[in-house]
Amino acid sequence: MTRDNDKIPPADRDPKVTQLGGDGIPNELPHHTRLIDKHGVLERNATLLLVASFLVVSIGGIVEIAPLFWLENTIEEVEGMRPYSPLELAGRDIYVREGCYVCHSQMIRPMRDEVERYGHYSLAAESMYDHPFQWGSKRTGPDLARVGGRYSDEWHVDHFADPQTVVPESVMPKYDYLARARIDGEHIDELLETHAMVGVPYTDEMIASAKADFRVQVDPYGDTAGLLERYPGAQVRNFDGDPALTEMDALIAYLQMLGTLVDFSTFVADASR
Ligand code: HEC
Repeated sequence: MTRDNDKIPPADRDPKVTQLGGDGIPNELPHHTRLIDKHGVLERNATLLLVASFLVVSIGGIVEIAPLFWLENTIEEVEGMRPYSPLELAGRDIYVREGCYVCHSQMIRPMRDEVERYGHYSLAAESMYDHPFQWGSKRTGPDLARVGGRYSDEWHVDHFADPQTVVPESVMPKYDYLARARIDGEHIDELLETHAMVGVPYTDEMIASAKADFRVQVDPYGDTAGLLERYPGAQVRNFDGDPALTEMDALIAYLQMLGTLVDFSTFVADASR
């Protein structure tokens, strides 16, 4: 077991290079017995490396994703949460259509500065009926998870018509056209049905009365008993002050209920879940 190295005169040998002794006995453990060298097999074989990397990534992925299959266990049920009323749901669609989420999040983090500014941190259950959810970290404007009840309807009407009239330094664009866009909830039952398909517990009764519920929520003189039974705590009034039913009504109805369903004076977090 001689190496070419042995033929190099001793004076020319590199002292930093491990060499075999003159009689061929290695002066350290042979390389192939070291565990790290087994890794060399992987490093020298691209296909094997690919297969092994895939295995490692799969295991990591499963560890992260698998808990989501048992999602019900991770969302604690919270009293007061109910699916959106038809008018609120229509308002939510307008919110998504207009891209409000580009500047506003709906997720209060459990950190002191957030909780002091916006109120109780958001619970998972509070977005359990949201498709798609409105979490996020992009906040050109404030978080809106608990904006419900913070301002009057009139404030919202003025603010949407021209944000700078109420907040001079605001960079929010005008949404005045919403007040002119009439809606009649023609397809609102289908919208409820679609949400039912992805798991929102809208009953057949809710879907059947969706059109009536949609209109009665802006009519303080209407028969709202059915609406309030189906959607406890739904706010009934003419939201934009204009007799016509417009997108402004729907959007304000949605904003004014955000974060108002859970009663945090009685809520106790259940840490065992
Ligand atoms: C270009 C970014 C931008 C977009 C898009 C935007 N906003 Fe805003 N929004 C802001 C900013 C900045 C503020 C803070 C200043 C102000 O009140 O106008 C704000 C404030 C608000 C407030 C008051 C919140 C509070 O707690 O004071 C509400 C409500 C609101 N926006 C709703 C909306 C809705 C609904 C939409 C979509 C129709 C929307 N915004 C689109 C930037 C935006």
